[in-house]
Amino acid sequence: MSKESTESAVRVFEVGPRDGLQNESEILPVEQRVQLIERLIAAGSKDIEVGSFVHPRWVPQMAASDEVFQQLKPRDDVNYWALVPNMRGLDRALDVGATHLAFFISASETHNYKNLNRGISESLDELREMLTIARDKGLTSRAYVSMVFGCPYEGDIDFGRVMDISATLIDMGTDMISLGDTIGIGKPLQVRRDCKRAVDTFGVDHVALHLHDTRGMGVTNAMVAYEAGMRCFDSSVGGIGGCPFAPGAAGNLGTEDLLYLMDSLDADTGIDVAQISKIAAWLEQEAHITIPSRCTNYLQSQRNDI
Ligand code: HMG
Ligand code: MG
Repeated sequence: MSKESTESAVRVFEVGPRDGLQNESEILPVEQRVQLIERLIAAGSKDIEVGSFVHPRWVPQMAASDEVFQQLKPRDDVNYWALVPNMRGLDRALDVGATHLAFFISASETHNYKNLNRGISESLDELREMLTIARDKGLTSRAYVSMVFGCPYEGDIDFGRVMDISATLIDMGTDMISLGDTIGIGKPLQVRRDCKRAVDTFGVDHVALHLHDTRGMGVTNAMVAYEAGMRCFDSSVGGIGGCPFAPGAAGNLGTEDLLYLMDSLDADTGIDVAQISKIAAWLEQEAHITIPSRCTNYLQSQRNDI
């Protein structure tokens, strides 16, 4: 299912069950992960990254993603996305019938080593093979490029390098690039300029913005990116998450914070902000996860029933 982009429609990729939970000290049981995904669907989420097929020693929080996939009811109206690091991860994702694959690479050589234990050019070689398999099987894919606005290891990142890697991935056959501000370092004017360049070059349906809210710039950066023409955003229920291999990386932009902004712009997401806040409150109560989202914290302070 893909949402046709009209001027006011915005596609929201919910990454909480993957990017959110991967960085929590609490490891959720499979049943609770499945329940989280079902609640997100009930709130209107149509694109959900449900887990990752990375090495369980590297990210134990995602170890049982195979089981999560197997327990999800197949649905025509929801895309279940699998994060895949390498060929072994691709085999595991295909074994459980994943049809929507999210690959990843970094614009920073050092972060790529820390995250994937290999250099950028080796990652690109493997991505070429994986994207060929995905295309031959008629599967849908997206590819994250991380550290697009700056890196804790290398400092400034040349956005030209981000564009080159993205163009290579599009040429290899991926359907969408997601620009990852992995450590939430992007500044609004930079984000506006770079997002415009990416949208103008790749087309609005082929690029997304993946914001982390480390410095409180998440909503502002989503706003300027929206003004620059971006119509696809990744976010995480409650604003939880982060990359364990990027020092200082805090939670993703909270889905409810993003939705509050989009509702105020009359941008249709099809997702209910109040229900997302209730899910975040449920995560706090049931799974003892601290919720950074200011929207949810405000609503909780006002009402006792969430
Ligand atoms: P490696 O140690 O280089 O793996 O790790 P290897 O290829 O050398 O293989 C070593 C052993 O691991 C072998 O087993 C493989 O079979 C096994 P042995 O023969 O010794 O028994 N192995 C695997 N087992 C299960 N699943 C696999 C797998 N691959 C190899 N997929 C690897 C390489 C990619 C696996 C490792 O570096 C890894 O798991 N990295 C993932 C790190 C991660 O999850 N990071 C967070 C997600 S990315 C992110 O958060 C950023 C994002 O949100 C965007 C943004 O914010 O910018 C997406
Ligand atoms: Mg991320």
